[in-house]
Amino acid sequence: MKTMLLSKEDCRAIARHAGLDVLMDELIDRLTRAIDEYDPQRTSVLARDGFHYHNPYHGLLEWMPVMQVGDTATVKVVGYHPANPTVKGLPTILSTISNYDVTTGHLVGLVDGTFLTALRTAAASAVATRVLAKSGSDTVGMIGCGAQAVSQLHALSRVMSIDRVLFHDRDPKVAATFAERASVGGRVSARFDQTATAALVSTSDVLCTTTSVAIGEGPVFEDRDLRAWVHVNAVGSDFSGKFELPRSLLERSLVVPDCREQAQREGECQQLPPDRIDTDLVALIQQRERFVGSRDKSSVFDSTGWAYEDHVVMQLFLDHAREMGVGTAIEIESHTDDPHDPYDFIVSGAKSEVGSRESEVRS
Ligand SMILES: NC(=O)c1ccc[n+]([C@@H]2O[C@H](COP(=O)([O-])OP(=O)(O)OC[C@H]3O[C@@H](n4cnc5c(N)ncnc54)[C@H](O)[C@@H]3O)[C@@H](O)[C@H]2O)c1
Repeated sequence: MKTMLLSKEDCRAIARHAGLDVLMDELIDRLTRAIDEYDPQRTSVLARDGFHYHNPYHGLLEWMPVMQVGDTATVKVVGYHPANPTVKGLPTILSTISNYDVTTGHLVGLVDGTFLTALRTAAASAVATRVLAKSGSDTVGMIGCGAQAVSQLHALSRVMSIDRVLFHDRDPKVAATFAERASVGGRVSARFDQTATAALVSTSDVLCTTTSVAIGEGPVFEDRDLRAWVHVNAVGSDFSGKFELPRSLLERSLVVPDCREQAQREGECQQLPPDRIDTDLVALIQQRERFVGSRDKSSVFDSTGWAYEDHVVMQLFLDHAREMGVGTAIEIESHTDDPHDPYDFIVSGAKSEVGSRESEVRS
């Protein structure tokens, strides 16, 4: 009855051992496969919920549950606090992911969710981009250059050949460091140009919006002179009333939400009538042939963050941890020899401590 803990150090060891590119490739492939095999009879995703507050700072703490029927349930708890970077020197997104055995309730694993969220969100965009971007696309526009933008660009670089990156952030300090953060170690080797949004959106083949735009302040760019084939990964919209894209772009595009009901509540799909959204990421992957003609038209991946992605990325890290022998297995739950006596572990624990002290003395 041990729980496997994967700390920041363990995740660092896994990332260094595998290499970030290999890890991202593995995740993109695993997520594609998992979506291909997705069966709502075997996987149950409940609506996420959370506390939304404005005091002392604007924030959200929410939980995202998903169950593999008869096997395990994964619950991510994620905080969204856009003031974190400037006020506390912390990421906007802080998270942990836990996994439970649904045959007993036992906590199987507890893993960092901050790095894993950045990876899985980016991998989901790569999965959609691989199907929807026009072939030969080589110019990527990034609006919002914070944490998610780094992993989004990395994942895109694994599924398309990027020649030029145009980027914009409303915070000049964040924009000033983006090229370096995104390209460190030669991870994304492209020409980086900080560009005003109007020029950025009219020159990009693939756009990615990863902003912390406030509720009611969107869209983050105007629908002017976009390329007819533009593919957009809209990542920042995940709140009722919060969106990044102009409605006119959505109205003329193929819109693919990660999770339809959630996107209608919190994503870009809020801006469209429900009957306008006739597909989702599962259909995009399971029925790829339906979308062959979409590459030459504008498309939007409405990414609100799907709990199934958390399940997939956590399993990937647990598998690596097992192979490498990293992580800490500890007993957290005070289960006892007598399942009807919740105090028994105190007595039996004391007895075994005495026993081991006596055997130490004898030896
Ligand atoms: N879809 C998902 O699964 C998923 C997962 C994680 C985060 N997110 C969302 O992605 C967004 C970015 O997260 P992050 O971790 O990168 O946050 P971050 O704070 O690191 O970066 C956000 C950046 O957006 C910039 N910004 C805000 N409004 C802007 C605007 N109008 N134009 C240009 N730039 C603007 C900010 O200055 C900031 O630098 C958040 O809204 C978050 O909720 C979505």
